[in-house]
Amino acid sequence: MLEFTSTRLHDESRQGEAYAPSAGHTTMASKKFYIESYGCQMNFADSEIVASILHDKGFGATRNFEEADLVLLNTCSIREKAEQTVRSRLHIFRQLKRSKPSLLIGVLGCMAERLKSKFLEEERLVDLVVGPDAYRTLPGLIDEAEGGQKGVNVLLSREETYADIAPIRLDSNGITAFVSIMRGCNNMCSFCVVPFTRGRERSRDAISIIQECEALFNEGYREVTLLGQNVDSYYWYPEHDKDFSAGVGNTSATATGEAVTFAMLLERVANISPLLRVRFSTSHPKDITDEVLHTISRYENICNYIHLPVQSGSNRILQLMNRTYTREWYMSKIKRIREIIPDCGISSDIITGFCTETDEDQQDTLELMKFARYDMSYMFFYSERPGTLAARRYKDDIPEEVKKKRLDEVVKLQNKLSRESNLNDIGRIFKVLIEGDSKRSAEDWRGRSTQNKVVVFPKKGCDFVKGDYAFVKINECTGATLIGEAV
Ligand code: 5AD
Ligand code: SF4
Repeated sequence: MLEFTSTRLHDESRQGEAYAPSAGHTTMASKKFYIESYGCQMNFADSEIVASILHDKGFGATRNFEEADLVLLNTCSIREKAEQTVRSRLHIFRQLKRSKPSLLIGVLGCMAERLKSKFLEEERLVDLVVGPDAYRTLPGLIDEAEGGQKGVNVLLSREETYADIAPIRLDSNGITAFVSIMRGCNNMCSFCVVPFTRGRERSRDAISIIQECEALFNEGYREVTLLGQNVDSYYWYPEHDKDFSAGVGNTSATATGEAVTFAMLLERVANISPLLRVRFSTSHPKDITDEVLHTISRYENICNYIHLPVQSGSNRILQLMNRTYTREWYMSKIKRIREIIPDCGISSDIITGFCTETDEDQQDTLELMKFARYDMSYMFFYSERPGTLAARRYKDDIPEEVKKKRLDEVVKLQNKLSRESNLNDIGRIFKVLIEGDSKRSAEDWRGRSTQNKVVVFPKKGCDFVKGDYAFVKINECTGATLIGEAV
């Protein structure tokens, strides 16, 4: 559960992960906090900012909630199930509080934002409710809560990016890290609660992003994933006379204050070192530009992998979802990716059973999946979220069994596509960044190819260490893993 298996925003493999800091931050702190994170990678990255804020307040992290003075849940609202999981976890912590009344329980993230002080009525023993833009106020809120008051701050901000806070890496493998480059989302996909829980889109100061990536590289990290709800609309304008141009290949960002686009930012991060791999997530099909694709193809260390959520293959449903592109537009983007980056891994997010979806719409989704030949997808059935455009405008009229049946079809097709994609890799040689031991055996290394596929190979006969690049010839595969040998 502690291994990173993907670089997408919603990595289900890490849900509810309990955190402890990586080396260097096991403080002599008098008080201890315990944090669990749910939902997207953004939340996991935010928990590392919270850890940094709490560290300055004198709290050290613990993996054992029973010894904690402060228990935090960094929550997700994207689907109802995510909220249910959090509520059942809270139930356990509330029981702990009964035997230890000084324990403070805090709810952070999207559920805090969505439910606000209603949370305190629903979940009486919660002491803190703090939204994604209010983490700087945690120290004051903790003081209030220790004084017996409830600490609530769910104010959203148009500016907050936590740019100046150096995250404390939690349970890191020391090789791959997530770097948040923007917050919020200005798209209004009708099914999605994120614009309401995370607020308006804002881009983080590019200079602080580069500094964070450089620091990671100097600490031995070999891969950064630039995170945002919609990274392609990254846009930062240097207000002061900050020199962003140094080291930016042939782009035109200058010290005179020209705006920095996502393509320029990618290039600048890639220029830190050829040994530092760069990934990013998530792209919106309407916003990913040729400039970004050309930048990826120009730099060997910008990974050939794009997570490009389609959501549905039906034009009628795409319109109801307010995705602002058509099936044809999406297909032309896939073609463009394959033209410019011939060997690019592509993955997607798909929702089945959205309002009014017919069997014909479902067929359109299946056909589009075949066209895109996704290497991997994250697939969900539609879950109505209160307050979203869809909840206000449309009836959630597809019975759950139909949603699930369609999801099952989508999952089956994706399994077939993933297997085909992996079979195509047999006999090929990939450059693999070694992230650590294989989950199954300490006799094998585990890493990823540029296309983001997990590659496992025996340690025997080669003297690599974690963080090295190995060339691996693929001999066999499972649905999710390539298995090979170093060459
Ligand atoms: N129901 C089901 N899936 C959803 N997603 C977002 N909102 C919902 C919802 N209400 C999925 C989308 C998105 C991913 C992060 O979660 O596919 O891309
Ligand atoms: Fe939600 Fe759409 Fe924004 Fe993604 S792009 S966070 S799906 S509103």
